[in-house]
Amino acid sequence: MSDRYCVFGHPIGHSKSPQIHTAFAAQSSEPMEYTAIEAPKDDFAGAWRDFVAAGGRGANVTVPFKEDAYRLCDVLSPRARRAGAVNTLVLGKDGRTFGDTTDGIGLVRDLKHHGITLAGARVLVLGAGGAVRGVIEPLLAEGPAEVLIANRTAEKASGLAEDFAALTAGHTRLHGSGFDAVPSHFDVVINGTSASLGGDLPPLPDDVFAPGATAYDMMYGATPTVFLGWAAERGARPVDGLGMLVEQAAESFTQWRNRRPDTAPVREMLRQALEANA
Ligand code: ATR
Repeated sequence: MSDRYCVFGHPIGHSKSPQIHTAFAAQSSEPMEYTAIEAPKDDFAGAWRDFVAAGGRGANVTVPFKEDAYRLCDVLSPRARRAGAVNTLVLGKDGRTFGDTTDGIGLVRDLKHHGITLAGARVLVLGAGGAVRGVIEPLLAEGPAEVLIANRTAEKASGLAEDFAALTAGHTRLHGSGFDAVPSHFDVVINGTSASLGGDLPPLPDDVFAPGATAYDMMYGATPTVFLGWAAERGARPVDGLGMLVEQAAESFTQWRNRRPDTAPVREMLRQALEANA
């Protein structure tokens, strides 16, 4: 019998995770199946228990269950503990549930894939919700000169910066602010707000990008997000979050199967499918 994995979400119909993991599995003929499961909003723990009882070995977790997943784990990775969220569940041989978050490492790997150097860079992160909390630690690990977290609600940005202050090792200037206090000339600007969903744009100064800067949106779609369109008009290189999705999946897959998949052909497959829908 093949090992069972899934992604839990609500809704889950549009998830690309089954396609991604099925492609990874095919690379080495892994005996596994990967499906999408819509868990009930009020009983995520029950959905995971039922899945395990039916032979489930691991899962990805997406909106709105990342905090529920965090709470049910017997063991957490240090980065998941600090992020307060779990997107990867692994069933241990002893029956205990291990939780990790691979979103941040997925972002960092994707930035590297695009040739972006974080070491010594000035990085601006927009938003201070769960999505941003999950990526701060891996970003800091790359040694940027500065990470400014800017958010509509300024206090949330400052609070987040304080929560991660101990991880800067004195190398990175980590701080938070409202959008109105954002200075100019950042090398990398990462949009982690959910503003793109509603077609909104965080109010940023026109000179927020340094020459040669990259604008990264954690979201993606058949057409560029409003943020990426705005950034391109101001001379920044736009990169969407499709690669982050593939890289976080690869990190989860590696934990389950002890084999790192080749992400290049899977990125290409998803990009082509997206462009076919544009
Ligand atoms: P997620 O899990 O996607 O991070 P979240 O925790 O609800 O979701 O956080 C959403 C983030 O997007 C927050 O930083 C939010 O700003 P506030 O903290 O001020 O609410 C930000 N956001 C949502 N809509 C926005 C908009 N229209 N303009 C700017 N920021 C927005």
